[in-house]
Amino acid sequence: MAPGGERRAVAVLAAGIGSRMRSELPKVLHPVGGRPMLAWVLDAARAAGCDPILVVVGHGADRVRRELAAPDVTWVVQEKQLGTGHALAQVAPELGGSGSLIVLSGDVPLVRPATLAALAAAAATGWGAMAVAELAEPGSLGRVVRAADGSLARIVEASDAGDDELSICTVNAGLYCLPFPPIFERLTALERKNAQGELYLTDALGAAAADGDRIELVELADPGEAMGINTRVELGRVHRRLLDRKLLQLQLDGVTLLDPARVQIDPEVEIGPDSSLAPDVHLSGATRIGRRCTLRQGAWLRDAVLGDDVTIEPYTVVDGASIGPNCSVGPFARLRPGTVVEEGSKIGNYVEVKNSTLAPGVKAGHLAYLGDATVGAGANIGAGTVTCNYDGVGKHRTEIGPGAFIGSDTMLVAPVKVGAGATTGAGSTITQDVPSGALAVERSRQRNVEGWAERRQRRRKKEDE
Ligand code: UD1
Ligand code: CA
Repeated sequence: MAPGGERRAVAVLAAGIGSRMRSELPKVLHPVGGRPMLAWVLDAARAAGCDPILVVVGHGADRVRRELAAPDVTWVVQEKQLGTGHALAQVAPELGGSGSLIVLSGDVPLVRPATLAALAAAAATGWGAMAVAELAEPGSLGRVVRAADGSLARIVEASDAGDDELSICTVNAGLYCLPFPPIFERLTALERKNAQGELYLTDALGAAAADGDRIELVELADPGEAMGINTRVELGRVHRRLLDRKLLQLQLDGVTLLDPARVQIDPEVEIGPDSSLAPDVHLSGATRIGRRCTLRQGAWLRDAVLGDDVTIEPYTVVDGASIGPNCSVGPFARLRPGTVVEEGSKIGNYVEVKNSTLAPGVKAGHLAYLGDATVGAGANIGAGTVTCNYDGVGKHRTEIGPGAFIGSDTMLVAPVKVGAGATTGAGSTITQDVPSGALAVERSRQRNVEGWAERRQRRRKKEDE
């Protein structure tokens, strides 16, 4: 690496339009592996331990800066996207003195910190260094022509390459370690003499090599790391790789994935050991799952917190809710934001809970809506119960005391309180508070009309005659 006293900086090129994505969204903001593409590259830049981190933005610059705001990033705007060489030239005014500059591409998110360390080490032995990979299908990536001594001779973009050059399988990964200010001097000499009419950073390296500046080629151990994203097809492939890294780590940490090809898990998600995930489980956001949890087919969790020994039955949605240990939820249940389900509770099929707290041991087994409710320990919520929390203007709370028994098909018109140990009769519409231990029944008395069926049949026969 650079001798003592010299600076180590990093520049990320992220201003490009990315027109082949066919998108209104700036390319580097496209989510991959659960985060914007550029977020992965910024993490790699941070891990390289360089200061400053300069990020060149242009297309959709305001949006990129807003969505990836970070105190350790210096944004540099490239007003017109005239090519990678022009992009890198924009950071020159930000860098005084001399040192080495790691250059990363905002659309190469699989880059690993170890690669940047290897680039810095290799650059220290010559003028600069760049990462290359051997790819069976080099596609649209730049082809690397080696000099007789194994260092760089030149880089040919696929769009400028002849058949001979296209058959080269050594590609430019778009990751470099270059000396500054010398690289900036090289960039000023660039010309737009190529198929894309751009100022290519790669041409500056070829010119340096031609003048005897040795550029080391650092071969990537995992060629997949070189995968850049120019199209949605490549986005899909890189997503798969980032996801596989996450899944592998979870497996090594003691999580069973019954079919790893069929789960989606965001990078921040945490899962405790001995938990098991069935196919089609989707975990996103800041979801945290305890030990020995079972997530069955189709569980969809976002920003969910699960204690130990929780079972999520098939096709259940848990969004912004927290579930205590030893609970069981679903199948076909929906827990919405602000819901807290405490230890040992049981939420069954077709139960929706929103912004409610369920104390330990509550049972809501079937077909219910609990919204803006507080439910005491051990209460039983009958099938078809609805907390009528909205009167068309505002939302109101329902309080159900511990040990209460809410009969099937009870409408609880909020604001309303049911006391501890109270019971509501099935089919009641409760509009007034129910005292502790009381029975509230609100329905008309049943009338039985004896012999009615027989009389009806006789009547019908007569009409037919
Ligand atoms: C570039 C390399 C190619 C390499 C590939 C690796 C050049 C000329 N080619 O090709 O050899 O194999 O990356 O993925 O460098 N950018 C700007 N401003 C611009 C143009 C681009 O900031 O004016 C940024 C883009 O946002 C992108 C990166 O630079 O993050 C690479 O640009 P892109 O146009 O995707 O280059 P490739 O054709 O992929
Ligand atoms: Ca690219």
